[in-house]
Amino acid sequence: MSDQSRFYYTLGAFLLGAYLTSVWKSRSRDVEPELRGLEQRLTQQQKDQSRLSKIDNLGTLKKNLSGISRPLEKATDTIKQGIEGCIGNTPLIRIKSLSDATGCEILAKAEFLNGAGNSPKDRVALSIIEMAEEQGLLVPHSGDTIYEGTVGSTGISLAAICRARGYKAHICMPDDMATEKSDLLLKLGAEVERVRPAPIVDQNQFVNLARNRAAEHTANPDKRGRGLFADQFETEANWRAHFTGTGPEIYDQTGGFLDAFVSGAGTGGTLSGVALFLKKKLPELKVVLADPPGSGLYNRVKFGVMFDPKEREGTRRRTQVDTIVEGIGINRLTHNFEVGKELIDDAIRVTDDQAIAMARWLVEHDGIFVGSSSAVNCVAATKLAKQLGPGHRIVTLLCDSGARHLSKFWANTEPIGGSEDDVSLNSILGS
Ligand SMILES: Cc1ncc(COP(=O)(O)O)c(C=O)c1O
Repeated sequence: MSDQSRFYYTLGAFLLGAYLTSVWKSRSRDVEPELRGLEQRLTQQQKDQSRLSKIDNLGTLKKNLSGISRPLEKATDTIKQGIEGCIGNTPLIRIKSLSDATGCEILAKAEFLNGAGNSPKDRVALSIIEMAEEQGLLVPHSGDTIYEGTVGSTGISLAAICRARGYKAHICMPDDMATEKSDLLLKLGAEVERVRPAPIVDQNQFVNLARNRAAEHTANPDKRGRGLFADQFETEANWRAHFTGTGPEIYDQTGGFLDAFVSGAGTGGTLSGVALFLKKKLPELKVVLADPPGSGLYNRVKFGVMFDPKEREGTRRRTQVDTIVEGIGINRLTHNFEVGKELIDDAIRVTDDQAIAMARWLVEHDGIFVGSSSAVNCVAATKLAKQLGPGHRIVTLLCDSGARHLSKFWANTEPIGGSEDDVSLNSILGS
C-alpha cells in the first residue's frame, strides 16, 4: 500500500471509529431498533471506508467526505469544552511489572493526564476557581488575580485555568523546587516569586506570602481587580474535588473491587477526598499514607504524634521537608488532611533512594516516566502488596510526569541502560 493510500485508509478507519463512538454514546433505551439501525449504518460505514481507502486524489476525497459528514455531527459529545473539559476521567493503568512481581493488581490513576496543568491539582484548581466564581469573588478580565503558595503543581494548574477564564495568577513557591516548574509558570504568564524555604510561622513562608500578596492587591487602589488567595491547604474546594471526582472515578473504574488505596499527602486533599468517598462505599478498604523522609505525617498516622526524627535540633538540612521528593510530605496538620485523617489505616515510609530506584524501574519495565511523588506512591503500593500477599487489588496515583523533575529528582538517576541494568524489586524495597 502506498503512503497516500495508507493515509486515506487510516482516515477512513478514524472516521468509522468516531462514528461508532457517537452511535454507542447516543444509544437509547429502546435497544432493539437501535441495534438494527446500527447494523445498517455499520455496513454503510464499512462500504464508505472501503471506498475512501481507494481514492488517491485529494479533491475527490474531499467531495466524498462531504457526503458522509452528516452522521459525524452526532459525535459532538466527544468534543471537550475548552481546556477545563480535559480535566478528570483519567485512565486507570495496571502497572504490569509491579502486578506481575507481587501477584497483586497494582493499579495507578494516571493523574498526569489531566489536560490543563497535567496533575491532580487540575481538579483542585478548577474547583477553587468555580467556587470563587459562584460566590461572585472573581470577575473575568477585570484584573482579578489568584494568589497561591505552592510547590508547583497547583500553581501550574491555576495558571493554565486562569488564562482560560480571564484571570491572572501570582505564584509563590520555595526556591529549591525544580526550576522546570517556575519556568513553566512563567510561560503560562503567571507572576512567580521563588522564596527561601521557611517555617510556617515565618510571614515570608511561601503560603503566608501568597496570602499577604492577595490582601495587598485588594487593598491597593492602583491595582486593577482584586486579589484572591486560593488557599489549597485549607480550602474545602480541595478535598471536595477528589470526593466528587477522583474517588467516584476509582470506584467506577474498578467496579468497586479494590482492597486498598495508597497515596502521599501534601495538602492531604487527595487522600482525604478519595478516602471519604471510597470508605463510605467500601468500609473494609485499607487507606494507606505513603510518606517521604522528613515528613511528620508518618508518625502522626502510626503513633498520633506529628514528629519526624529529622526535626531534631541539628539534624535537619532544610526548613520544609527534608527529602528530594516534591509535592508530598508536610510537618503541620492542614484542614485537608484533618477531614480524612480518621480514615487512614496505616502509613508506609519511603526513602529517597527507594523513590529514585522505583522511578527508574518504572521506565525500564513499563515505559512509565513519572515524578517523585508518583515513585513514592508506587514504592508504598508495592510494599503493601508484599504485606497483603497475592490476590489483592491496590490503587495508587501517578501524579505528574518525570519531565517536571529532570533538573532535580531525575538528575540523581543514572541514564537508563536497558533491562541488563535491572535491579531486583526486592532490593528496591529493601534499600
Ligand atoms: C506532584 C504532586 N503529587 C502529589 C501531591 C499531593 O497531593 P495533595 O496536596 O492532594 O495531598 C502534590 C501536591 O501539591 C503534588 O504537587
